[in-house]
Amino acid sequence: MSRFQLNPRQGLQVNITHEEIVNVFHSLFYASEQDHSGPPKLYNGVPIHKNPFDMFNYQQILFTQKPDYIIECGAFQGGSTLFFADTLSLIGKGKIVSVDICERAERWFPQVEAHERTILIPGSSVAPDIVSQVKNVVKDGKSFFVILDSLHTQAHVLAEMESYGPLLTKGNYMIVEDSNLNGHPLPPEWHTQTMREGGPFEAVQEYMKKYSDFQIDKDMENRFLFSYAPSGYLVKQ
Ligand SMILES: C[S@@+](CC[C@H](N)C(=O)[O-])C[C@H]1O[C@@H](n2cnc3c(N)ncnc32)[C@H](O)[C@@H]1O
Repeated sequence: MSRFQLNPRQGLQVNITHEEIVNVFHSLFYASEQDHSGPPKLYNGVPIHKNPFDMFNYQQILFTQKPDYIIECGAFQGGSTLFFADTLSLIGKGKIVSVDICERAERWFPQVEAHERTILIPGSSVAPDIVSQVKNVVKDGKSFFVILDSLHTQAHVLAEMESYGPLLTKGNYMIVEDSNLNGHPLPPEWHTQTMREGGPFEAVQEYMKKYSDFQIDKDMENRFLFSYAPSGYLVKQ
């Protein structure tokens, strides 16, 4: 890995690798996003919790693949749901099926509910009746984009992958978000539940050991140097 020298004219020499710079910036960027003291991050008026670099990648994948359905696990107020629904409107095809357990008072904002391309399902993304409901809604679909951003424990994410992964056809993407938790590269202490139980990154590792139907697309993940889904851009084989 190449090393950079920072501030050489001031006599201060700091050797730091490309990877170290990216990882430190990633942590700073994530911390600033989690800081709720400043103006909220909104997508067309709805709070959103995504890395804008990943969002750029997602719109490019969607425009290329033009899926029949997006399946989103974890929506909160629905900023990401609206972003995906608007992208599908621009493409002129497809619907987003968004699932959230809705344990908090806040849920999909009215403009997300009113969007002609959204189908919103309250419930746990791994509950058998909800999985059946989603599969029933998308049964005419041939092409999918799945994005997992709900409960970030290893067991839960693995169950989501096993529930929705088989729907995808060759070349489709399943995105496992927040695989940056638990030391990848965010410090494990930032999310105590994934530190104790494993998180999305560990779920991907476990899935890849058990099955061989997805490959990790590092090129797409790294186009903007860092992603909230490290090793989480999975392409169906
Ligand atoms: C990080 S937020 C989603 C943020 C949203 N995707 C965005 O980018 O704006 C995680 C959401 O997952 C939901 N959640 C937690 N456990 C869940 C479960 N078992 N099934 C479905 N959703 C769940 C929470 O209610 C919460 O709204």
